[in-house]
Amino acid sequence: MSEEFTITFREEHRQVRDGLMDLSDAFAARDGARAGELLGTIAALTGPHFRYEEETLYPSLVQIFGADYVDSLIDDHDGAIASARRLVELAGSDLDDAAVAEAQGLVRGILPHVSDCDGLSIMVERLSPAEVDAIFAKRAETLDEGLDLLTWDDTVRKRPALAG
Ligand SMILES: [Fe+2]
Ligand SMILES: [Fe+2]
Repeated sequence: MSEEFTITFREEHRQVRDGLMDLSDAFAARDGARAGELLGTIAALTGPHFRYEEETLYPSLVQIFGADYVDSLIDDHDGAIASARRLVELAGSDLDDAAVAEAQGLVRGILPHVSDCDGLSIMVERLSPAEVDAIFAKRAETLDEGLDLLTWDDTVRKRPALAG
């Protein structure tokens, strides 16, 4: 069960990684239309992904890491969401040197969370089968609802309370 999780989780991060790297290339090529399209793809992937992480996976890791570290993962999500909003603006702007440099800096700022988050699967191996089941069930639910990152953030997202 946790092996299936590791494989699924890795594949999701791989898609986000590739989307972000292609996005950086699109900005470098000053192709705002392509950048906008990639931002849409990335938002569609990360909406459900961040959501099941925040609603089920991350809270279940508090017993291992404590609340402070898990909070920092959610801080990473806050940063990624803010960056995504700015990247949408930049994609629609005049792509001068400063805009390209800013966009590439924002993409670089998101990338470490992709690899940090993927590493969490080593800890998921220590969760109970029922906890891993609950993560898969939440994942299915969030994919079914299919809210993209910014829509989710604008509507249902509440920062989880982890402590206590
Ligand atoms: Fe993740
Ligand atoms: Fe995450």
